[in-house]
Amino acid sequence: MQIIETERLILRPFREGDAADLFAYLHAPTATCFLSLKLSNLADAEIEVRKRALDEGSVAICLKQTGQVIGDLFGGGADVEEDGTTSVGWNLNPQFGGQGYAFEAARALFDHLFRAKGFRRLYAYVEDHNKPSQRLCEKLGMRREGVFVEFISFTTDDAGNPIYENTMQYAILRREWMSGVPAI
Ligand SMILES: CC(C)(COP(=O)(O)OP(=O)(O)OC[C@H]1O[C@@H](n2cnc3c(N)ncnc32)[C@H](O)[C@@H]1OP(=O)(O)O)[C@@H](O)C(=O)NCCC(=O)NCCS
Repeated sequence: MQIIETERLILRPFREGDAADLFAYLHAPTATCFLSLKLSNLADAEIEVRKRALDEGSVAICLKQTGQVIGDLFGGGADVEEDGTTSVGWNLNPQFGGQGYAFEAARALFDHLFRAKGFRRLYAYVEDHNKPSQRLCEKLGMRREGVFVEFISFTTDDAGNPIYENTMQYAILRREWMSGVPAI
């Protein structure tokens, strides 16, 4: 992907040297949907960075002032779906939550995907207990389109049985985005 600059952030592909910053938040993912991405050590983080560097849809969120990677976004990768549709998502180092960085980054990514990449429809899956992510979807102008009941399992109970989660789907169309990009 091309480098995108916002007021406080640089969005760019992952690259060598990002492993420590990625490990800082992926050693303990806070969202159940990212538990499978949990990293055990720095060597695994380096492998993950190399994988992400080759993925067009994987975006590092960096602080302009320090260059630190404070989270990531995905959307518009090689696994593009039919009819100009792609899924999007976000994962911020919790140390940098509550400062508007996720919104600033996702807003810029959405604009890029709709205007530069020509996507027609972006959608996000969000668990029903993940209020910060739902709030972000809503601030981005996404519509809650439905709730899939006991849709997916990321964890098991003490007896090893899958715990199924209720998953909401949010989406927005290009024409909706173009008719009113949400203000910062
Ligand atoms: C979901 C997630 C990205 C949301 O991050 P966030 O920091 O809460 O989101 P935002 O960037 O929208 O910032 C939130 C708050 O920062 C505040 N803020 C502080 N300074 C700000 C500034 N300069 N500009 C804008 N907002 C600012 C805002 O008041 C905003 O609160 P509001 O939504 O009530 O208005 C984050 O919680 C996360 O990464 N969670 C773990 C991973 C995850 O759940 N991913 C999604 C899976 S579906």
